[in-house]
Amino acid sequence: MHTLAVNVDHVATVRQARLITEPDPVTAAALAELAGCHGIIVHLREDRRHIQDRDVEVLRSTLKTRLNLEMAATDDMAAIACRIRPDMACLVPEKRAELTTEGGLDVAGQSAQIVRCVRCLHEAGIMVSLFIDADEDQITAARDSGAEFVEIHTGRYADAAAQPDQDREFDRIVEAIGRARSLGLRVNVGHGLNYRNTQRLVPIGAIEEFSIGHSIIARAVLVGMERAVREMLAIIKR
Ligand code: PXP
Repeated sequence: MHTLAVNVDHVATVRQARLITEPDPVTAAALAELAGCHGIIVHLREDRRHIQDRDVEVLRSTLKTRLNLEMAATDDMAAIACRIRPDMACLVPEKRAELTTEGGLDVAGQSAQIVRCVRCLHEAGIMVSLFIDADEDQITAARDSGAEFVEIHTGRYADAAAQPDQDREFDRIVEAIGRARSLGLRVNVGHGLNYRNTQRLVPIGAIEEFSIGHSIIARAVLVGMERAVREMLAIIKR
């Protein structure tokens, strides 16, 4: 069965809107675990707009499942990751003005920095995933970097308004996953996945983990965290 990792960044987004202590992403993570998710993801952005350093530290010491830390591929962030030691670090591109991570990491274009970051994380015993577009060159560069995983960016598939566009993006994802597996990379997917568009990816057996945030938190606001996670787990069960 595929696994589900729940991104709780947007619980912190609501908290930071008032700069107080609730809602607490750590409590949300515990409820997601009680509902059966397999891991928790947080993105410690350089501008600290939602998740704070302390959230990551508390999650590290309280989670019963796995902690996946999304982070920019910088030396400063690598130093934080090496101190906190998540189970996995997912390297993502980061731009100050973006609302969310917009595109995949340009591994091919900044390979020296990425390789340095991957090595540093590996030395601390942290598995590494690279968040990339469904692109042949990026997949090859990801393999060359030494990372164990790629997370294929599903945003264009998720955002496609017309069926032919969604079909084309779906085919690109399938091809990219096949290529990554043939190079020995393990594969996760994420971004923009929701209660309607996730189902179509479920038959792709090579996917290990679905990484889903916004749609689960949006649903949890209305129906509660445990129910929102259980409903998504029911979808990804093959
Ligand atoms: N994977 C990565 C690498 C991301 O940056 C994000 C967004 O933080 C997600 C998955 C989750 O995307 P969404 O919130 O659209 O489900």
